[in-house]
Amino acid sequence: MELHVIQGDISAFACDAIVVNLFEGVMRPSGGAGAVDRALDGAIFHALAAGDFSGKSGSALLLYTNGRLPATRVLVVGLGPAADFDFLAARKAAGVAVTYLKGLQGVHTAGAILNGAGIGAQDLTEMARAFALGSQLAAYQPPEYPPKEERQTLDSLTLVELNASRVAEITAGMDAGTKLAAGVRLARDLVNEPPNILVPVEFARRVQAMAADTRLSCEVLGEAEMRELGMGLILGVSQGSHQEAQLIILKHEPPGTEEQAPLVFIGKGITFDTGGISIKPSAGMDEMKTDMAGAAAVMGSMLALSTLEIPQRVFGLAICVENMPGGNAYRPGDILTNIKGKTAEILNTDAEGRLILSDCLGFVERYQPRAVIDLATLTGAIGIALGDQAAGLFSNDEDWEQQVVAAAAASGDRAWPMPMYAEYADTIKSDMAQVKNTADRMAGVSSSAKFLEHFTEGYPWAHLDIAYMALRGKGKDSSEPKGASGYGVQLLTALAAGSN
Ligand code: BES
Ligand code: MN
Ligand code: ZN
Repeated sequence: MELHVIQGDISAFACDAIVVNLFEGVMRPSGGAGAVDRALDGAIFHALAAGDFSGKSGSALLLYTNGRLPATRVLVVGLGPAADFDFLAARKAAGVAVTYLKGLQGVHTAGAILNGAGIGAQDLTEMARAFALGSQLAAYQPPEYPPKEERQTLDSLTLVELNASRVAEITAGMDAGTKLAAGVRLARDLVNEPPNILVPVEFARRVQAMAADTRLSCEVLGEAEMRELGMGLILGVSQGSHQEAQLIILKHEPPGTEEQAPLVFIGKGITFDTGGISIKPSAGMDEMKTDMAGAAAVMGSMLALSTLEIPQRVFGLAICVENMPGGNAYRPGDILTNIKGKTAEILNTDAEGRLILSDCLGFVERYQPRAVIDLATLTGAIGIALGDQAAGLFSNDEDWEQQVVAAAAASGDRAWPMPMYAEYADTIKSDMAQVKNTADRMAGVSSSAKFLEHFTEGYPWAHLDIAYMALRGKGKDSSEPKGASGYGVQLLTALAAGSN
């Protein structure tokens, strides 16, 4: 879908559908919605008066103009209460509009006015950014096999702004929103792809192709290099698979940041998690193709940081491995040694995410990072704790944790701080090695975070367990398509932009 901005009057705009909006509780449409209402002989007013439409967030009302306007249809979108209107509400309203319109057979071109602009004291650039982000994320189409050639789509959406002096600011905001959306869309594509296609080598190939169009540098380590480095936990998980593991390193180093200690993002990239020898039940196992959502989010955020030219030095790592059973697979009882010579006893081969991450946490010490954050679909236990409403946040540094909390709130990628009591570390004590990879069922998410913490040294660190955020579940709003959510891209981008 193409986005445009023009100066003009929305009620004079010719297209298949125009979108106007209303705050909840407003009984008399004003501004752009008012002009449209007058042209339609009060159709919006009548819907409000009848109680059929209230401006509630997430709601929409479709009207046919019957020749009274150049546009064929009018979609009125509810913005919720004016007092609550913010970036996230504006993003959602744009998503609701595009989701509605792309479901209509006859709609290919649309026009809209900026949500809520002209009423509140909202920052125009931010509102335009929210508009572009919300609409581009709603327009997203997951990959299909074979690709549908004649898909009915909403091809273009034009923001029609009455005031010529506002067009430049709106254009800048739309550009920023579109670039961020491209990062989220990349992450969604990677997560949605089937696991036979998106094997670690293919993941790396796609990231290299993406990086070639940007100023990101891209380096890929294979298993020979990992063996050289002593990454025994990654190799242990990977040894049951015919697919070669890949460690992908993207570097965003804008001019003038060469001296900065980098921020480091690490993503879990299990391209398929069978559980290995501790094999998972077959029901729902197909969902384990999303076990690389952390890696996908890191790659998507690196694309956004690069195109948005965020003036921070940031390195993004994706560790891509397939977890399979087989004659050469690692076993419960094995003891593996990581890149730093630390040992781990394997009790359950399905607790593989923490293993591959632990080698990465040791590896990134060479960068002397300012701070590190990893994103991982690590435990089912986080779903029991928080459902699909927030990722669990764990950290060894209060200031860094607060920066993540702030980025989560600003981006709408929710994260909730969880405790890191020293006592949780007792649950992963091993008789034979320095740690074991599983504890009992109690506080399973905390023991996984303690396992990771054991392998961090010399930098502030945070961990996000995103196991139940990678897919858009039933509880999520309907302003975006089903499947991969792209969770984390917006958070990481906000984190880098706002870091200090
Ligand atoms: N990839 C899974 C976690 C997961 C669960 C992701 C549900 C998405 C949805 C992870 O590798 C795993 O298998 N974790 C185990 C750990 C256990 C064996 C200690 C779990 O949570 O059951
Ligand atoms: Mn697993
Ligand atoms: Zn896993």
